[in-house]
Amino acid sequence: PRGAHLRTDNELEIGGVETTQLAARFATPAYVLDEDDIRARCRAYRAALPDVEIAYAGKSLLCRGVLRIIAEEGLSLDVCSAGELAVARSIGFPAERILLHGNVKTAEDFKAALGYGVGRVVIDSLDEIHQLGALTTAAQPVLIRVTPGVDGSTHHAIATGVDGQKFGFSLADGAAERAVARVLAEPGLRLVGLHCHIGSQITRVAAFEEAARRMVGLLALIRDRHEVVLRQLDVGGGHGIPYLPGEAEFDLTGFANRLRCAVNYESGRRRFPVPALTIEPGRCIVGPAGVTLYRVAVVKRGATTFVAVDGGMSDNPRPALYGARYTVRMVGRASSAPAVPVTVVGRHCEAGDVLATGVDLPADIAAGDLLAVAATGAYHHSLSSNYNAVGRPPLVAVRDGVARLLVRRETEDDLLARDEG
Ligand code: LLP
Repeated sequence: PRGAHLRTDNELEIGGVETTQLAARFATPAYVLDEDDIRARCRAYRAALPDVEIAYAGKSLLCRGVLRIIAEEGLSLDVCSAGELAVARSIGFPAERILLHGNVKTAEDFKAALGYGVGRVVIDSLDEIHQLGALTTAAQPVLIRVTPGVDGSTHHAIATGVDGQKFGFSLADGAAERAVARVLAEPGLRLVGLHCHIGSQITRVAAFEEAARRMVGLLALIRDRHEVVLRQLDVGGGHGIPYLPGEAEFDLTGFANRLRCAVNYESGRRRFPVPALTIEPGRCIVGPAGVTLYRVAVVKRGATTFVAVDGGMSDNPRPALYGARYTVRMVGRASSAPAVPVTVVGRHCEAGDVLATGVDLPADIAAGDLLAVAATGAYHHSLSSNYNAVGRPPLVAVRDGVARLLVRRETEDDLLARDEG
């Protein structure tokens, strides 16, 4: 994060707080968040895209403390379950700034959304049109999620812009247009626009531009065939972040320019009024702000040196799920030992619990040393589990030399709380 500072004694400060102090106070593993970094990213998005609604994707990291920051920075919010909505509701996040997403929304999800009065529901299937329509007569504003047929070049598990995956209505085979007709015929729903989300951890700006072009084309087609002018276009999230040295930051300025140009050009040539735009970044808002601190528990030297830490796939399943790679560094004490390549592994009972391979750490790395893993703000806390009955780590925000506990560590009592005996 931008508030991170590595001192010459190899002490890492984040938000003006020493990680050694954080580890001592909150124990390890711990997720640390640089609050100013999150705020700066919210502001960068708003400055680069002043006319665009920025809806933070809550699935990337959600708790009340983070959501208050998001609300204060003036962002909207994407939720995908009654549970996520409950967090938003508990801090009074403005309902009109909330979008409800997901390919499955249960009756509880719909009821919670209608009960709170969320601004928009994003329709993902024909079933939903009836399911939601049956619950309301109040003309709930909805968007239709379209699969635009754009490949964002990302891991297949998080590629959602192409046909052949579960989300949305295909643009190519006419399903999107048929969904429009069905929504228009449903009295409880008011169609206000279209949505697409082509995937996550995408760095190629041209992919977003192409999706936006196709979506404006569809808006014009809908006007021509259904005589309805939809005013809103949500082009989703998915902006990638750097995880390794040498990887670039997302080109936000380039994205903003190309999105604006593409939408203006396509609208102009089709004589369609320029739609109000929404984007839904999650990872790019909170990802780089997070650092996970681990304590080295065991070092096993052999053909491969394994540095085993006190966390693992329960706090970070991303290497196992997506082959994700990370930057890992020893912090908190100086070492003049040469760097040697090691494999950083977790404490969980499977050989696949590997956090990072080919990491250079000092040859004298030993039990008790601290490791910091960068860019863990998004999809770490939210993907964590208590596999092996290991409690989930706390989430700590740092700012101006002060550390604030946002979510406490999961305890053994927590782990037993749902067990009916
Ligand atoms: N909008 C919708 C409808 C989404 O489904 C998502 C993410 C986003 C926005 C935000 O995408 P972002 O800007 O954060 O890339 N667990 C995976 C990522 C899954 C993304 C799911 N949808 C990972 O750890 O890489």
